[in-house]
Amino acid sequence: MLGSKAFEPNRDIDSPNRNIAPITSEINDSEKLLVGGCQLSELAKKYGTPLYVFDELSLRTACKTYISSLKKHYPGDYLPLYASKANSSLAICAIIASEGFGLDAVSEGELLTALKGGVKGENIVFHGNNKSRDELFFAYQNNVTIVLDNNHDIELLKNIASEGKPAKLMLRFTPGIECHTHEYIRTGHLDSKFGFDPDQVESVLQELKMYKWANLTGLHAHIGSQIFEVQPHVDLAGVMADTLKLARKIGHPIADLNLGGGLGIKYVQEDNPPSIDKWVEVISKAVVIACSERNLDLPRLMCEPGRSLVANSCLTIYKIGAKKIVPGIRTYLSVDGGMSDNPRPITYQSLYSSCLVDKPLDSNCEKVTIAGKHCESGDILLKDFSLPSCESGDFLAVFGTGAYNYSMSSNYNRIPRPATVIVGDGCVDLIQRRELPEDLLQLDVLPDRFITNN
Ligand SMILES: Cc1ncc(COP(=O)(O)O)c(C=O)c1O
Repeated sequence: MLGSKAFEPNRDIDSPNRNIAPITSEINDSEKLLVGGCQLSELAKKYGTPLYVFDELSLRTACKTYISSLKKHYPGDYLPLYASKANSSLAICAIIASEGFGLDAVSEGELLTALKGGVKGENIVFHGNNKSRDELFFAYQNNVTIVLDNNHDIELLKNIASEGKPAKLMLRFTPGIECHTHEYIRTGHLDSKFGFDPDQVESVLQELKMYKWANLTGLHAHIGSQIFEVQPHVDLAGVMADTLKLARKIGHPIADLNLGGGLGIKYVQEDNPPSIDKWVEVISKAVVIACSERNLDLPRLMCEPGRSLVANSCLTIYKIGAKKIVPGIRTYLSVDGGMSDNPRPITYQSLYSSCLVDKPLDSNCEKVTIAGKHCESGDILLKDFSLPSCESGDFLAVFGTGAYNYSMSSNYNRIPRPATVIVGDGCVDLIQRRELPEDLLQLDVLPDRFITNN
């Protein structure tokens, strides 16, 4: 864990997913932690805490590595898509679009953010196991590729798409591949709510052939998230190539093969995910081999990384407040955020690394448990963690919080969401302002009859 010896220099700067801290992290002469050339304690004082801090270079490096690796390892056409469920904001969408990425969205909110952030509709795919008619209509109007997840999607689209402007479609199916990750983020096994069952695929392909409004151009499968093994993706390529062969035989002009996301990242020292380059090499070779064995022209290769692009590009700064010592058992340090800005520990028992931003190298450590401020005993961010002695008012950085933190955040206990800043070359920009308690009241309606005069 990152604690005292904690702050170790990053090792694999081309693959931010293999470094706990953002790749620009450094310690200055006064032994304070900087990211993107900005001193974290100064950011905390200026913008308040909790504060999400994004490192622009880490994010751009991860994007560039995906693209250069696809270019190096895949002889056909390719389009990587950012799984925006990991973290959706205008600025992040603008950055990934500028790096040549398309995007995967799962709601009208994510679609709107991507489009306003500058991602073109034709580079967006729209997922979801229960899309509404309005969402489908919005996607169709904006030339977004719609991922058919089930028959409900087909029934709704029949009344939306016209022969004049067919809907561009991708078919998602469950490939029946198991992988070792938390059961809530495993999606490729047969008992999953996502995608058509493999037994249904042939009849759905036949059915779609009858509809002039349906332009099926792609196949999709996603096996899960935070995966360290590469073999499941090799197996996936084979399963998808079989389906590609079938779909083309039935007469669908399938150009795109989308193998989903899932590459894991390093949250704690024990984590050893493959590099982005290795992952891309494995999936590229697997698709090339699977297609050549089946005599298939190479499809355009798509993948949908989320976590491995954004997680390690970001950290969260908290301010330490109350300290409670339970003699002989545990020392609790409470911070000014918790499960509302990072629900992963309470949801998936996820582990994180952390250090004091102004004492990153102090080796005089004690074991502490970092508690959030919400009214849940389970609101614990880090358990039995080694940290230098600290006082109320010290700032703590929790690393790897760029994915599934802000996007899964809530207002539990009516706690406003933190602000997000992006740093680079010593400059800082606000990309999401802090919510205020008054913002939370904006959506409330108080009927007149409930207003009392006293
Ligand atoms: C369909 C789909 N694509 C891509 C992703 C992104 O996965 P990850 O963030 O692990 O790369 C997910 C997340 O679970 C997903 O459900």
